[in-house]
Amino acid sequence: MAYFSPNHIFFNTHNTMPTNAVALLILSFFIQLLALPQTLAETNIFSEGTKYLYPEILKDEAVTRLIDLGKVSDAHGFLERTFQSPASVRAGNLIQEWMEDAGLRTWLDQMGNVHGRIEGMNPSEKALLIGSHLDTVIDAGMYDGALGIITAISALKVLNITRRIGRLRRPVEVIAFSDEEGVRFQSTFLGSAAIAGVLPVSTLHVQDKSGVTVQGALKINSIDATEENLLQLKYDPKSVWGYIEVHIEQGPVLETAGFPLGVVKGIAGQTRLRVTVKGSQGHAGTVPMKLRQDPMAAAAELIVLLESLCKQPDEYLSYDGQCMDSTVQSLAGSLVCTVGEISTWPSASNVIPGQVTFTIDIRAMDDLGREAIIYEMSNRMYQICDRRSVFCHIDRKHDANAVICDQGLSSDLKSAGYAALKRLTGENPDDVPVLMSGAGHDAMAMSHLTKVAMLFVRCRGGISHSPAEHVSDDDIWAAGVAVLAFIETHIN
Ligand code: GLV
Ligand code: MN
Ligand code: MN
Repeated sequence: MAYFSPNHIFFNTHNTMPTNAVALLILSFFIQLLALPQTLAETNIFSEGTKYLYPEILKDEAVTRLIDLGKVSDAHGFLERTFQSPASVRAGNLIQEWMEDAGLRTWLDQMGNVHGRIEGMNPSEKALLIGSHLDTVIDAGMYDGALGIITAISALKVLNITRRIGRLRRPVEVIAFSDEEGVRFQSTFLGSAAIAGVLPVSTLHVQDKSGVTVQGALKINSIDATEENLLQLKYDPKSVWGYIEVHIEQGPVLETAGFPLGVVKGIAGQTRLRVTVKGSQGHAGTVPMKLRQDPMAAAAELIVLLESLCKQPDEYLSYDGQCMDSTVQSLAGSLVCTVGEISTWPSASNVIPGQVTFTIDIRAMDDLGREAIIYEMSNRMYQICDRRSVFCHIDRKHDANAVICDQGLSSDLKSAGYAALKRLTGENPDDVPVLMSGAGHDAMAMSHLTKVAMLFVRCRGGISHSPAEHVSDDDIWAAGVAVLAFIETHIN
């Protein structure tokens, strides 16, 4: 029988019920509602045979909402939602409605983050925060960020409908962060870094390509972000218990190993750079090759250097005290470098451009190793530019150190993932494996505020940052049941 097939679930949990699927769903839902108050008081959520799977909310509605949110785009024909764009505002409004539908008190803060909170029995207790981001890359998939927000809202909606939300021992707050991808301003985590209190106030004055500042982008949407109220956005660490985030894996590890869910051990550190190369603009037909100062050819050489350096860091780094053997070894396993954006001015086939700019994204688990690579790369790049008689400037736009997730919290999340899979299949799952994240996440910024843990969800072909990104409905369901199981451990 297929893993997670609806029949498999129904046979395990409702094998005396009628076969009509819709009637069965509705009937099972109301039976669960009636049975809950007494049963749940007695039931440990990780106990065997728990059958509260809420497919209507944790699967069907969650999938519908992901699809609906995936249609909220600034572009026609592909998904794009950058910080404070019109589509981001519409997406935030939709998320706020869903939070209210789950019984949460909601508000929008001065960085455009959408919050939904339930105080539970002890409003002064430290809060459990659950979040992910509502912005996307350009030509994005619909699960990156959205999955974490929607599974959290859905799990709380289940608790609300089953009248258990008031029995939470601590406040629980879902936060849909306004910017994690950093597409518009190249400075990622604008939303979560503000909450964590690590966003420099100077960020308000960073400009996008059209010269609009972060502050200006917020102002267009009637959000008054001053340096003073940005500082006030920081949560008091004493008021927070921990932060968890559900996210698609964005890589192939879980799918290859055959596991729907995994727990994140650590998140790679990252640096973003912008390289500007200026040469001598000229006529494509008249300037002899020997006399050219061509920034395009120089940029090509710089990019190929970057690729070689990151493919084989050991061949470029010297072991002279700054870079130890272990650093180089760790780099060899996790270092990745990408040039994802390049632009030329002017851009015409019969013109030698005057200027080329491109971005560099460098990630590694080892922060010292990442620094060593940036140092070595910069030196070599300036040498190439000198040799080619072009001017180069390397601008550091963003840095985030690697993060190790909290062991205790990760272990609780792993147990919740395990319990979810057991509830869904009726069998002990083989494992909820532990893996590293090469992608950046809001959890990195939130780690400056509190302990963090992440649950990864399998995605098809390991593809992400692409419209081909896909998570199966059953895996979305598994993630929702896992979040529910995790939150249930905070219920009296
Ligand atoms: C976000 O998805 C990142 O890792 O760049
Ligand atoms: Mn992303
Ligand atoms: Mn993401």
